[in-house]
Amino acid sequence: MATWDLSKTMHHVLICNGGSCLRRQGEEVTAALREEIALQGADDRIHTTRTRCNGRCEDACVVTVYPEGVWYKDMTPDTARALVREHLLQGKPLQDRKVYSWSGERFIPTDHGAEGLLRSMKK
Ligand code: FES
Repeated sequence: MATWDLSKTMHHVLICNGGSCLRRQGEEVTAALREEIALQGADDRIHTTRTRCNGRCEDACVVTVYPEGVWYKDMTPDTARALVREHLLQGKPLQDRKVYSWSGERFIPTDHGAEGLLRSMKK
């Protein structure tokens, strides 16, 4: 148990640890991302949280970054380390893994992710 001071936090990274993502290196992605944050001395600037399923299982392993609102797919330990160095510390998102980005009004899909279903179409 911990209660962190987030007053210096610039990014919140949600790492999916749902079943599909754990089957596709979710544990290793979590460890690599956290190790790279520590290696870069960025613990106060980047907060991470393991989550349950984010509803994008075909994109596993899924990682999302806020407040930018960028969703990533197919994350691996190597791309997790690159995410820290390039996106979080240099402001350059990983374009080839990005599946959604926040426009200010809604999430805009790239053509990299699974198409998915609209909830309203399931009724
Ligand atoms: S388990 Fe990660 S999106 Fe479903």
